[in-house]
Amino acid sequence: SNKPLIAPSILSADFARLADEAAAVHGRADWLHVDVMDAHFVPNLTLGLPVVQSLLATTDIPVDCHLMIENPDRWAVGYAEAGSCNVTVHVEAAHDPVMLAKNVRAAGAKAGLAIKPGTPLEPYLDVLKHYDTLLVMSVEPGFGGQKFIAEVLDKVRTARRLVDTGHLNLVVEIDGGINGDTIEQAAEAGVDCFVAGSAIYAADDPARAVEGLRRRARA
Ligand code: DX5
Ligand code: ZN
Repeated sequence: SNKPLIAPSILSADFARLADEAAAVHGRADWLHVDVMDAHFVPNLTLGLPVVQSLLATTDIPVDCHLMIENPDRWAVGYAEAGSCNVTVHVEAAHDPVMLAKNVRAAGAKAGLAIKPGTPLEPYLDVLKHYDTLLVMSVEPGFGGQKFIAEVLDKVRTARRLVDTGHLNLVVEIDGGINGDTIEQAAEAGVDCFVAGSAIYAADDPARAVEGLRRRARA
């Protein structure tokens, strides 16, 4: 992995001030991570396409949508058409992940595949040939501020090896419990893109927090 990408998650931001919260990391954040939850795939409800459309109209930071929803086959393309840079769906929820990736790419976005902490990677290596990003969840999806599950780094190492040997062409992304300590282990395991919610938006200065994480990821 070369240059670490940092993706602040607005799940830990103030939803009533999303434009300001995006602006607070402008020029620092590589991607803005948006967690879409439907209260079915995960036990929490956040926001959907209308809010993502408004956010896209207010920021030029590339928007990385993480769909924690059932039947993403039905909904993912809308987020791509709206102008998201990357649309990630869960492998546990997708009915036809290969077709889904093709549709998302045809709509102009990168296609991402997310896996929960307890989901193995091996069964999906062929499916991943159709994807641009792999999102390894390092907490159970649903909430910010949880503790990092270090065991998922084995999946990161596997993915890193397959990318470095040319078997896959993926951005390896990690999401959940990333802070100044855990980011170093994740970087060492081969993560390219680090999502962080509370470590950035609970900080006094979110822009500074992004740069602090980036420095640690390079260490
Ligand atoms: C959790 C979300 C994460 C969340 C991470 O389901 O996918 O993106 O915002 O929050 P932290 O960084 O606080 O663990
Ligand atoms: Zn997320």
